[in-house]
Amino acid sequence: MRHRTQVAVIGAGPAGLLLSQLLFRAGIDCVVLERRSRAHVEARIRAGVLEQGTVDLLDRAGVGERLRREGLPHHGVRLAVDGDAFRIDLHGLTGGRSVTVYGQTEVTQDLIRAHRDRGAALHFGAEEVALHDLTSGAPSVTYVHEGVPHRLSCDYVAGCDGYHGVARASVPAEALRVFEREYPFGWLGILADVPPCDSELIYSNHVRGFALASMRSPTRSRYYVQVPLTERPENWPDERLWDELAVRLGPGAAARMTRGPAIEKSIAPLRSFVAEPMRHGRLFLAGDAAHIVPPTGAKGLNLAASDVGFLAEALIERLAGGSEAGLDAYSARALARVWMAERFSWWFTGLTHRFPDMDGFARRMQVAELNYIRASETARATVAENYVGLPLAYAAGGRDAR
Ligand code: FAD
Ligand code: DHB
Repeated sequence: MRHRTQVAVIGAGPAGLLLSQLLFRAGIDCVVLERRSRAHVEARIRAGVLEQGTVDLLDRAGVGERLRREGLPHHGVRLAVDGDAFRIDLHGLTGGRSVTVYGQTEVTQDLIRAHRDRGAALHFGAEEVALHDLTSGAPSVTYVHEGVPHRLSCDYVAGCDGYHGVARASVPAEALRVFEREYPFGWLGILADVPPCDSELIYSNHVRGFALASMRSPTRSRYYVQVPLTERPENWPDERLWDELAVRLGPGAAARMTRGPAIEKSIAPLRSFVAEPMRHGRLFLAGDAAHIVPPTGAKGLNLAASDVGFLAEALIERLAGGSEAGLDAYSARALARVWMAERFSWWFTGLTHRFPDMDGFARRMQVAELNYIRASETARATVAENYVGLPLAYAAGGRDAR
């Protein structure tokens, strides 16, 4: 079957769904192709912390209503050294900015519901997606849906299909530069229907390794511990994981921690990755398709959202008959912000995790830096402004400051 649309969006994660929602509201036609089932996409447990800019963009996309009602505003965050915690006053140190705890599952469900309500072309179970003629004036996408082969002609392709997707893989190797760091550990995460141990998140540097106490709601908790990449979730029965969390988060948090059966338990590897540029002809990459940050600092979903904000603006300008200037500037504009978040996530990972080759000196450097942050308002302000999300002027290295 042959079809035509203005923008073919590959992937129905947060990036693809938010982009098509923003384009739809501007009267632009698009088709979203997703390899997995709706149930799979809606159940994938991942991010939990939204920057103010992400919340604002979701509002602008018309999907902010439940987020405003159920999201938990967080005005502070805690760091801990061997269980001894101190607070960073995000609100006070950033002129009133904060973050919102609202699960990626909820963001995805809200966006899918908005697509369904208006009968949008959102196809789950799209197989064998392939991109063609990206550097011509007439690109197309072929795929198989419910056994039927399709060809979709379009003006532009948005590659929002994550790190393992087909979009970045369709760019010739010589047209991309890749920058990468792999970390020799992963995060073992547990989700449980128990009240959180604290009203705010706790990022803990412990001599046994990193731990994070997070949440999804007043009755649902999310915790992580750093584990070697060789570990498997089966080696971590619930009690062993709760015991380890109690040690790494310290006696104060442990005393307030409620244990309960895991609803989900999985291990995620940590990686820093950027592919430049984020454009190849009429293909534009956004979100995890173009870059990955280690989860320390909660930047991944927020970067996907800021990419999509830039890309939607540029596509809307062009497809409303305007100039291509926004599309030409997209990659550089998005990458400026990406590199700022890459730096923060890499730095925060280095500050809080135990590395296999770490000796006593390296560990004391971490502890000294954490104690400096504890003592210095200037240092806490630096962490705070990165954690809530840098203003765009910073991301452009000051060049946008006007
Ligand atoms: P994805 O969510 O990966 O979506 C891509 C979609 O494309 C998927 O649905 C996939 O099935 C589909 N796809 C793939 N290949 C194809 C194909 N060939 N054809 C069609 N479709 C395809 N970020 C934060 O901001 N805050 C956090 O607190 C945070 N915590 C995290 C915790 C964990 C444990 C993990 C793993 C990640 C976390 N992140 C966090 C990162 C965040 O989840 C990702 O950055 C975010 O999902 C990126 O969205 P995306 O739409 O770009 O990619
Ligand atoms: C969560 C994940 C993160 O990567 C982070 O930095 C904070 C919270 C979470 O899943 O709740």
